[in-house]
Amino acid sequence: MCGIVGAVSTKEKILPILLDGLYALEYRGYDSAGVSYFKDKKIKIIKAKGKVKHLEDKINSEEKTTIGIAHTRWATHGEANTVNAHPHQVKHITLVHNGIIENFLELKEMLEKEGYTFKSKTDTEVAGALLDYYYQTTKDIDETIKKFMSKAVGSYAILFLLDNDDTSIYVLKKESPMIIGLGQHLNLIASDIQAILKYTNTYYLVGDLEYAKVKANEITFYNKDGNEITKDVKTYQEQGDELGKGSYKHYMLKEIEEQKDTVYKTIKKYINKGINSLLELPDLTKYKEINIVACGTAMHAGLIAKYLFQEFTNTRCHVYLASEYRYQNNFFSKNTLTIFISQSGETADTLAALKLVNANNLDSLGIINVKESSIARGVQKVLYLETGKEIAVASTKAYTAQVALLSLLVLSHGYRKKLLSKEEVEDILAEFNNVSTYIKQVLLAKDKYQSIAKEISQEENAFYIGRGLDYYISMEGSLKLKEISYIHSEALAAGELKHGTISLIRKGTPVIACATDKKINSKTVSNLEEVLARGAKVYLLTDDITITNDSFTIVRVPFTSSFLKAIIAVIPLQLIAYYTADLRGTDIDKPKNLAKSVTVE
Ligand code: F6R
Repeated sequence: MCGIVGAVSTKEKILPILLDGLYALEYRGYDSAGVSYFKDKKIKIIKAKGKVKHLEDKINSEEKTTIGIAHTRWATHGEANTVNAHPHQVKHITLVHNGIIENFLELKEMLEKEGYTFKSKTDTEVAGALLDYYYQTTKDIDETIKKFMSKAVGSYAILFLLDNDDTSIYVLKKESPMIIGLGQHLNLIASDIQAILKYTNTYYLVGDLEYAKVKANEITFYNKDGNEITKDVKTYQEQGDELGKGSYKHYMLKEIEEQKDTVYKTIKKYINKGINSLLELPDLTKYKEINIVACGTAMHAGLIAKYLFQEFTNTRCHVYLASEYRYQNNFFSKNTLTIFISQSGETADTLAALKLVNANNLDSLGIINVKESSIARGVQKVLYLETGKEIAVASTKAYTAQVALLSLLVLSHGYRKKLLSKEEVEDILAEFNNVSTYIKQVLLAKDKYQSIAKEISQEENAFYIGRGLDYYISMEGSLKLKEISYIHSEALAAGELKHGTISLIRKGTPVIACATDKKINSKTVSNLEEVLARGAKVYLLTDDITITNDSFTIVRVPFTSSFLKAIIAVIPLQLIAYYTADLRGTDIDKPKNLAKSVTVE
């Protein structure tokens, strides 16, 4: 989604720094980019549709300037073109913006009556006009910002330049991340730490309804009433991704491979001293119920945890899509722990759901990859994934690490509740100690996944089925396929197929089943026979050696306890999706219309 970077320096070479920032933000997904800067006291604006490279081609990066703001835009209001791209200029104000101004239509109407006209379809241009209107009526920048903050509804991270001040970048924030980094003779502002890591790892966090004035040698913070506030400097510990994708064709393939290390790295400290280290995980015994809130793949990881919580710890667990949770009537109870799962830690809906939980003073736990992200900071307790940066838009290594951490949380809970014995827990921990070996084993069968991909890549529809845990694994497999290959795909509980969707099965339709639960595998196999009889091409992923059928293409995965099944079984599905997309020639790491960090609702 949209990304922001700004820089102000005592040295005269800001444009390469802004371009570095924009390139570092590319992984988030965007469809146009732009920059604006002071050149001889005048503001210049350059924009391009498509990639940052197109923008770079239009820029003379040698041009001398000490101050500028830049943006990658993921279209919300208005299509991706240079008119709608940021920065926008409205008289005295030139701005870039992340987030959504929800009352922009009402503001637009009001501003049109004041004589403003609009070139773009964006809410950002309206925000710029509102700032300009207040600036023209008050002639005071603090009053302007305070009035803006009390009038604009929605979320925003805004940087703006004022046409008569070539020394300051103005920064406003509400519910959309924004940090200010401290470089050498240089201050940087960004929506995402990745944009500035090349230059600094020390930074300030801008809080909600706060604003700042950033000069080359001075940063001043204010609250919404215009009173000056002080802030602590933070340090970001993790290194930037210096290795790039190496010899891999795509980041996604690299990240799938990395799972042989990242799952273990994430859980190591909770398994290496046996049960003692497991018990370092939070004690959940005081909760009657667990709620899990997340989006997309992270929500799928939540479904695996729900299955395990209910099956092994007799604890009721609900999984909610954050976008639904935030608007539904929730029955908040003190006996409930709410777990928020998010790779980026910035997903707008998940963050909004967390605010709701915090407003009701309920306990929360985060399972997060990006350190110090907004959700990580907002939860009471956080468990971090140790996967390193996930760059491909389609989540892979974050999912398996999320599932692994959640599985251990269930295991510790079951043990504390005396529903799992010491021996059972030790056996499962021994399996987790071997998780890298299991993963390496499934990664080996690439030829098999490639030949399945070859068949699926010819089709426009695919169906994934499973029961219980396998249904939830299928959901993730299906999402992976559709998001990167653009093949329409649906995941169904296997028993549901004949209640409607089976009418879509025809000759050649791929049906991919997961069957890793001995108790119910035979039921899923019967469902496969039913689709086979209607012409489907059937693929079966199983750890059950008793299943054989010459009409099915069978992918065998190693047998493990339920706690590891989702981690092991999802990897062939990730690779099938990857190879299918590769054969179809899609932009795998940055699929169209998708963004890595979904910071608008
Ligand atoms: C799919 C995918 C998305 C994310 C979802 C939540 O491959 O990556 O479905 O899982 O947008 O993102 P996070 O985990 O950052 O909250």
